[in-house]
Amino acid sequence: MDTVLTRDHLVAAEFIRGGGVVAFPTETVYGLGADLFNEEAIRKIFAAKQRPQDNPLIAHIGDLSLLDRVASEVPPFAARLIARFFPGPLTLVLRKRDEIPLIATAGLDTIGVRMPGSELARQFLAACETPVVAPSANLSGRPSPTTWQAVFEDLNGRIDCILQGDPTEIGLESTVVDCTGDRPIVLRQGGVSLDELRSVVPDATADESEERSNRSPGLRHKHYSPKARVLIVGTPADLTGDFEQSAFIGLTDPGVGFAEKRIVPDLRHYAHELFEFFRECDRREIATIYCEAVSEDGIGAALMDRIRRAAQD
Ligand code: TXA
Ligand code: MG
Repeated sequence: MDTVLTRDHLVAAEFIRGGGVVAFPTETVYGLGADLFNEEAIRKIFAAKQRPQDNPLIAHIGDLSLLDRVASEVPPFAARLIARFFPGPLTLVLRKRDEIPLIATAGLDTIGVRMPGSELARQFLAACETPVVAPSANLSGRPSPTTWQAVFEDLNGRIDCILQGDPTEIGLESTVVDCTGDRPIVLRQGGVSLDELRSVVPDATADESEERSNRSPGLRHKHYSPKARVLIVGTPADLTGDFEQSAFIGLTDPGVGFAEKRIVPDLRHYAHELFEFFRECDRREIATIYCEAVSEDGIGAALMDRIRRAAQD
C-alpha cells in the first residue's frame, strides 16, 4: 500500500471517513487512528502495528459532545477530571457504550477516552466527525513515535496516511486512569502527574497491585524498547571505562567519551527527547544506552517508568 504524506488535516480526515488508518500527531506521541465504529478499519490498526489483540485502544475525541457516543456513564469524580484536564495528556477508562465494537476494547466493557491538546490533532479529529481509536503509531514493542519521520520509519507502506505535524510536545504517552470504581486509579503514569490528579480528586491513587496488569492489559506487553540494551545510572560522574559503542542521556554530563551523548537541561526536555534518542541510537546501532535516573516528581514519574520498562529484558 502507498502511504500518503500530508500536512492537510482535511486530507487525513477523509481517509478516516473512508475506513482507512491514519497516523496523526498529538501533544504526547503520534497515534495511529481509525473510526471507532468501523471494525474493519480497526483490524487494520492491529495488523499494521503487529499489535496483540488483547491490548485495548484509546478513543480520541475532538469535542466533548462526542463523549456520550463513547462512554455509557461518567461518575462525578471523572467529570471533575474532565473539566480540569481535557484537552490534555489524560486518558480516562470509563464504561463503554454497547455499540462500540469489542475489537476496539479487546473484549473489555470499558474504554479509554482522551481529548488531545494539540491544535492539529483537534482540527483533524473535528474533521473526522467520529471518535477515533488510536494506539501509539509505532510497530508493537518499539518506542512510541514523537516525529512523523519515526512513524514513517516503522509504518510506511503499512498504513493509508501520515498527517505530518511538528515533533510532539510532551514526548511520553498520556496518563491512564481507571474511573470505573469509586475513585481514580492511575494505571499508567504520563503527562498529568498523580499530584495534579489529587489536586482535583484527593483520593486518586496509583495502582501498584498484582491485578494491575489485568486492569491495564497493555502493561503485560514489552514496551518502549530500543534494540540497544538500556542501563540506568544514578551518578554519571562515577562512570568509567570504554563507552565507544555506548550512548548517554541525562541531566549531568558524564565527561567520558560516548558515541552519542544527549545532555538535557530539565525533566521536560528529557521526556521530550527520550524516545527519539532511543530511535537515533538504534539507527546508529549503538549497543548500550545509559540513562541517568531522575527524581520522580511531576513528569519524572512517567519518565522513570518508561526508562525502567526499556531497561527490562
Ligand atoms: O498518549 C497516548 O495515550 C497515546 C496517544 C496516541 O493518544 N496513545 C497510546 O496508546 O499510548 P497505546 O495503545 O499505545 O496505549 C494505551 C494504554 C495501554 O497500556 C492500554 O492497555 C491502556 O492504555 N488501555 C486502553 N484502554 C484500556 C481499558 N479499557 N482499560 C484499561 N487500560 C486500557
Ligand atoms: Mg503504545
